[in-house]
Amino acid sequence: MVMKMKEQILKILRETDDFISGEAMCEILGITRSAIWKHIKTLKEEGYEIESSTKKGYKLKSAPDTLSFAELSPYLKTKLLGNKIVYLDTVDSTNNYGKIIALEGAPDGTVIVSEEQTLGRGRLERNWVSPKHKGIWTSIILRPSLEPIMAGRLTQIAAAALHLAIKKQNIISQIKWPNDIVVNGKKVAGVLIELNCELSEIKYVVVGVGINVNLDKEDFFSELQHKATSLKIESGQSINRKQLLGDFLNYFEELYDEFIETENMPTTLQLCKDNSAVLGKEIRIINREKEENGVALDIAPDGNLVVKYNDGKIKKVFSGEVSVRGLNGYI
Ligand code: BTN
Repeated sequence: MVMKMKEQILKILRETDDFISGEAMCEILGITRSAIWKHIKTLKEEGYEIESSTKKGYKLKSAPDTLSFAELSPYLKTKLLGNKIVYLDTVDSTNNYGKIIALEGAPDGTVIVSEEQTLGRGRLERNWVSPKHKGIWTSIILRPSLEPIMAGRLTQIAAAALHLAIKKQNIISQIKWPNDIVVNGKKVAGVLIELNCELSEIKYVVVGVGINVNLDKEDFFSELQHKATSLKIESGQSINRKQLLGDFLNYFEELYDEFIETENMPTTLQLCKDNSAVLGKEIRIINREKEENGVALDIAPDGNLVVKYNDGKIKKVFSGEVSVRGLNGYI
């Protein structure tokens, strides 16, 4: 990862508890004092609180709550994901942006993060509420050498990684097959995968992930309030978005590596089964206007849901919407 000069200055400030003199920074970085001063000015404009003293130098007092590369990178342990991070203040949809830059050749593992989306999209052409600085609205560009049919499994990988990252915040979530994460019966996160492929090969996949982190009740339209929630509402405290996004990307890469190496996803499957909101439950499957009832029996190794329908037939469900009887907000 090549660090820009501004990021290197920030790193030095972070690693120094007390003041560091401009002279010492010049020596470490091999640039002039006025160059250092210019970068410090930019950092202050970005929301970093930096105390400057002519005698003592500079001291970092606080960092803004943003998901820029500089703020996120200390939390990342990944080799692939986030090698390139595109950080935006606002965008229509990180998935739209991802598709454009993927077509232009953005590398495997590129992560797009925006503080706000003006036209965030969910599955089934739904809107996705994405207010500024309150959530995680991100898309990952992947270029796996896989057959297109395998791409759906990335939804399960993302869901399992979301469950683990949320658990690290001491919040227990459930995975509602195929792509919802629910806490106390209400949705806190979702995954939207978009694919560009040829007949037998994936060109790229955009894995879009939205996490309602620090949204307040008023941030959701009233018609959403009974089925959507945020981690802050459910836990009663603000969550560190950088830590959560860093953890999510770290877990995602671990599970993705297992999948790429083995073309199987045993760890993901176990997580999806152990923390499922649908297994063993009576469910309704809505697929292209058709509605059927049954019981969710299992998640097959290919990530599809195994359902016993009310007529006794056992079949796999590949996609579609699932509603769970008795689960708050989904009936
Ligand atoms: C769903 O549950 O219906 C999927 C929601 C996916 C939302 C995310 S937010 C980041 C990315 N950009 C979008 O426009 N959508 C996904």
